[in-house]
Amino acid sequence: MNVWFAASEAAPLVKTGGLADVVGALPKSLLKRGVDVTVVLPKYGEIPASYTEDAVTLETFHVSLGWRSQYCGLQEITVDGVRFLLIDNEYYFNRGSLYGYGDEAERFAFYCFAFMEALGRSERLPDIIHCHDWQTGLIPFLLRTRYAYNPALHRIRTVFTIHNLMYQGVFSQDLLKDLLSAGDDLFGEEGLEFYGAGSCMKAALRYADKLTTVSPTYALEIQTGEYGERLDGVLRQRSEDLRGIVNGIDTDIYDPMNDSHLKVPYRNSLAKKRQNKTVLQEELGLSLDENVPLIGIVSRLVGQKGFDLIGEALPGLMEESLQIAVLGAGDPGFEAMLRDAVQRYPGRIAVWFGFNEGLARRIYAASDMFLMPSRFEPCGLSQLISLRYRTVPIVRETGGLRDTVEAYNEITGEGDGFSFGPASAHDLLYTVRRALSFYGNPEAWKQIVLNGAKKDCGWDASSKQYHLLYRELATG
Ligand code: ADP
Ligand code: GLC
Repeated sequence: MNVWFAASEAAPLVKTGGLADVVGALPKSLLKRGVDVTVVLPKYGEIPASYTEDAVTLETFHVSLGWRSQYCGLQEITVDGVRFLLIDNEYYFNRGSLYGYGDEAERFAFYCFAFMEALGRSERLPDIIHCHDWQTGLIPFLLRTRYAYNPALHRIRTVFTIHNLMYQGVFSQDLLKDLLSAGDDLFGEEGLEFYGAGSCMKAALRYADKLTTVSPTYALEIQTGEYGERLDGVLRQRSEDLRGIVNGIDTDIYDPMNDSHLKVPYRNSLAKKRQNKTVLQEELGLSLDENVPLIGIVSRLVGQKGFDLIGEALPGLMEESLQIAVLGAGDPGFEAMLRDAVQRYPGRIAVWFGFNEGLARRIYAASDMFLMPSRFEPCGLSQLISLRYRTVPIVRETGGLRDTVEAYNEITGEGDGFSFGPASAHDLLYTVRRALSFYGNPEAWKQIVLNGAKKDCGWDASSKQYHLLYRELATG
């Protein structure tokens, strides 16, 4: 079985969020099952030279995008046994950050065409193309339209995974028609049309053979008006082909016993974990106290993650004896709210703005609890990393958080975290207070942490499900 992944980020090469974790780890797990995976990635300037200096150029060619003809280099590298094909074009991908430019449609249409051209030039065609998120959404569409002339590609089947339905790649029809040299016929309701515009996400939802998303609960949620981001109708039509497969984490990479970012390695020793708390308190300028409960947050600072609820709950939270450490970047409004909180509660709240892998690991290791009150969460990896670092997650019951965190039940002694249903600051506060009450009872706390330690957060079970899906498609 030969599978090509199409994705816009992959750890350890480039990462802005959980997508990179998944595209970095799932191929390694599939490889262990005998699936041959190639990951096709834009060659961003951000990829450290240590990965690219030995890259071998396989081909150079030109890609047509409407009236434009753009250079493309195809380079090959191998990282941790996984083959990567890098799509090289400095103009599109050497800009200083991965996303957020005025010509996103053109950049990722270029990527999708370059992917198709690389495919056409490959000596060994894949059985399956597995696309991730809107940036790759045009690939299933191109395969069945523009590239349908090529019979060699007919037997290839496509899987499209929704990591986050909120980001859809919606652009004007004029722009997409120009880039794709497409006519009105492809823009009907059954095609790319989306409320008068055109949608790369919808292109994939219509044209991919199978759809998946990253947890069973989110797979159901996105078929409703509340979570469907105006695509719930399309998703309901395709519900037979839509499946939720929960993410895992790479337990070799996220391992508190072998994490070069930590001063004190540990596995189940809460005493050693507490030493990491002292180290972090020093690093971030928090008051030194190894007994005060520390709540960690490592997150994109966006509405999805419930920062409005955190802001509203903050005065109540600070009435309790606790500290909070936040690492994140994003919405300037949330950054301002957090800056203000640091001024107001010096020594008790610390915030670091930006992306910082090492600090993220130290926060996971040092914290007693991890707060993730998401308004929606397709899967979420931070709560899984927390469980692995013996940090108790406090989450809102939505999407993958609902599927991966089991609320503690003091009667049965079962459960590995705390959770609440309504998206309200009141419920958040109540749940943190409940967690604090058990933190004050070391026996109960140890039980909760150990329950979490027993949970399997790795990729084995889920990569098996992807493998089965690929097999179903390839033989069906
Ligand atoms: P999402 O993909 O929606 O951002 P996930 O929970 O699936 O959320 O994954 C987030 C990943 O990105 C985790 O590995 C988390 O540790 C990491 N992360 C998020 N923000 C930062 C940051 N500012 N610095 C370092 N790592 C971060
Ligand atoms: C998205 C989602 C997150 C998920 C990640 C990886 O960024 O927001 O919930 O864990 O993708 O699938």
